[in-house]
Amino acid sequence: MNMGEPTDTLVRTGAIRLHGPDGFEGMRRAGRLAAECLDMLTPYVQPGVTTEYLDDLAREFTLDHGALPACLFYKGYTKTVCISANHVVCHGIPSPKALREGDIINIDITVIVDGWHGDHSRMYGVGAVPFRARRLVDVTYEGLARGLAVIKPGARLGDIGHAIQAYVEAQRCSVVRDFCGHGVGQIFHDAPNILHYGRKGEGMELKAGMFFTVEPMVNLGKPGVKVLNDGWTAVTRDKSLSAQCEHSVGVTETGVEIFTASPKDLFKPPILAGAN
Ligand code: MF3
Ligand code: CO
Ligand code: CO
Repeated sequence: MNMGEPTDTLVRTGAIRLHGPDGFEGMRRAGRLAAECLDMLTPYVQPGVTTEYLDDLAREFTLDHGALPACLFYKGYTKTVCISANHVVCHGIPSPKALREGDIINIDITVIVDGWHGDHSRMYGVGAVPFRARRLVDVTYEGLARGLAVIKPGARLGDIGHAIQAYVEAQRCSVVRDFCGHGVGQIFHDAPNILHYGRKGEGMELKAGMFFTVEPMVNLGKPGVKVLNDGWTAVTRDKSLSAQCEHSVGVTETGVEIFTASPKDLFKPPILAGAN
């Protein structure tokens, strides 16, 4: 701590915050609203719909619920959500371009409710989706689930990355290295970085009260990524399909609490559910 600085300053200091009941309550409300927003969008994801229209719906929903869109004007970003289609890995910018049958898209939203950030993303299928795309989505969701399943006090960050990487690579897919999850709470992107690859037993020890996101990006091809000239859109170098899903979570005394669980059980939208 620097002398003369308030201890509750809302800047990223690198310190890992351990939150109490008020923090959990704040994150439950923020996470729930993010999930409700993505639930709301589900029926609108159709061929011919523009990603800009989906962004408008998300912004209006957020503001109508008394929350703030965290991405809007964040580091110069000018939209409420990121929409990443097909070979876009993350940070796709909503545009007047229409969705096409067979596309898979990730919609990523962060809402701020009473100062708490609910950061959440999921995959949607546009109409009928080819088998290989549905399989990639399945692998990505299972990778996230396996990462979340190892979270408890005493586990290490490397255990999360290892659980995701071991599963994803066994399915002959790859884990993106260039983007990671992050501490979350009253700060959008806080310490620590949450890598989606790693080794068991390595990295920081988890403690009850830590809040962070887990948001693996999984490619059908190689893990390499490049960012387009717009400064945001990240795509696979080999043009292979990419998928992602993200939860904001808290470490509890016994395990993990998912703040962004879908009230309508639409985390994996119906068109993509149950593919094998
Ligand atoms: N929601 C993204 C994340 O999961 C961050 C998007 S930042 C933006 O961390 F500016 F591109 F929106
Ligand atoms: Co995030
Ligand atoms: Co996000």
